[in-house]
Amino acid sequence: MRIATLTSGGDCPGLNAVIRGIVRTAADHGSTVVGFEDGWQGLLEDRRRQLYDDAFIDRILRRGGTILGTGRLHPDKFKAGLEQIKANLADAGIDALIPIGGEGTLKGAKWLSDNGIPVVGVPKTIDNDVNGTDYTFGFDTAVAVATDAIDRLHTTAESHDRVMIVEVMGRHVGWIALHAGMAGGAHHILIPEVPFDIEEVCKKMRRRMQLGEKYGIIVVAEGAVPKPGTIEMDAEEVDQFGHIKMQNMGARIAKEIEKRLDVDVRSTVLGHIQRGGTPTAFDRVLATRYAVNATKACLRGEFGKVTALRSGHIEMISFDEAVGHLKEVPMRRYQTAQALFG
Ligand code: F6P
Repeated sequence: MRIATLTSGGDCPGLNAVIRGIVRTAADHGSTVVGFEDGWQGLLEDRRRQLYDDAFIDRILRRGGTILGTGRLHPDKFKAGLEQIKANLADAGIDALIPIGGEGTLKGAKWLSDNGIPVVGVPKTIDNDVNGTDYTFGFDTAVAVATDAIDRLHTTAESHDRVMIVEVMGRHVGWIALHAGMAGGAHHILIPEVPFDIEEVCKKMRRRMQLGEKYGIIVVAEGAVPKPGTIEMDAEEVDQFGHIKMQNMGARIAKEIEKRLDVDVRSTVLGHIQRGGTPTAFDRVLATRYAVNATKACLRGEFGKVTALRSGHIEMISFDEAVGHLKEVPMRRYQTAQALFG
């Protein structure tokens, strides 16, 4: 069998571990692997590379980013290229395609699958928002990076009697904020799923200070939203992919707290640091398990599915389940963290 793979959407630690896992598993079964460059764009433009089970591939396990490159392609351009994609796959003699990506990529993969292409999807994203799977790889690394940053901010905040706002990634869901905030002992966590009242946040900080503490750490997901009418926001703008443009929520909150409390406030945006660098052991293992299982699904002809982690086991789930909606933080999980706010 000849398998093709590609990485699409925002990169994340663990992508190379998947590529390595696919190449090595395929080789073990006498199959070969081709990698398309820069996501769907490379598939459309037929930019491909043969991937060999060699020393280079063996060593990419620890490496961040993706050796194939990645990118985003507008869904209209992607869909308009269906015949070209089919021709390119036929020309390369491809029997199966394994796209590795987040919700947007998996929607594209489902569409190819619905149009007769043999596809098995592998979910990735630091946001951990793909539905139907307990974790996506990249998330654990992002949480580790953010937790380390929060640990560091504690010591400087405490030395200067400051409130530190830490803005982490997560435009639609607050998984990184929730986990890093809990692990880092944040005194408040704001996530997109639970609109916040800035006065309530200040109340918690005030109470903390009345009890003798002089500093505080507030973790904010970039997509956190204030309750209507509480903080003035700019008109919503979307980019070419229909993503809402983020509004520097951390900095806005810092300004509001400074207005309301007699305390020095600073804001830090962790940004793409959360997506770069070497994957944690957890992400390497999860990425490898997804790779082995996706490749084996191709080899037995089980197409139109996505790999997923469920209660510790890897299962194959339907595209419909994976892309139906985003996996949000459930209220009960937020409430657990909330018990320790202030
Ligand atoms: O979806 C992953 C993600 O890292 C989000 O957390 C973040 O909002 C977005 O990608 C950033 O995208 P870009 O790399 O295009 O700035």
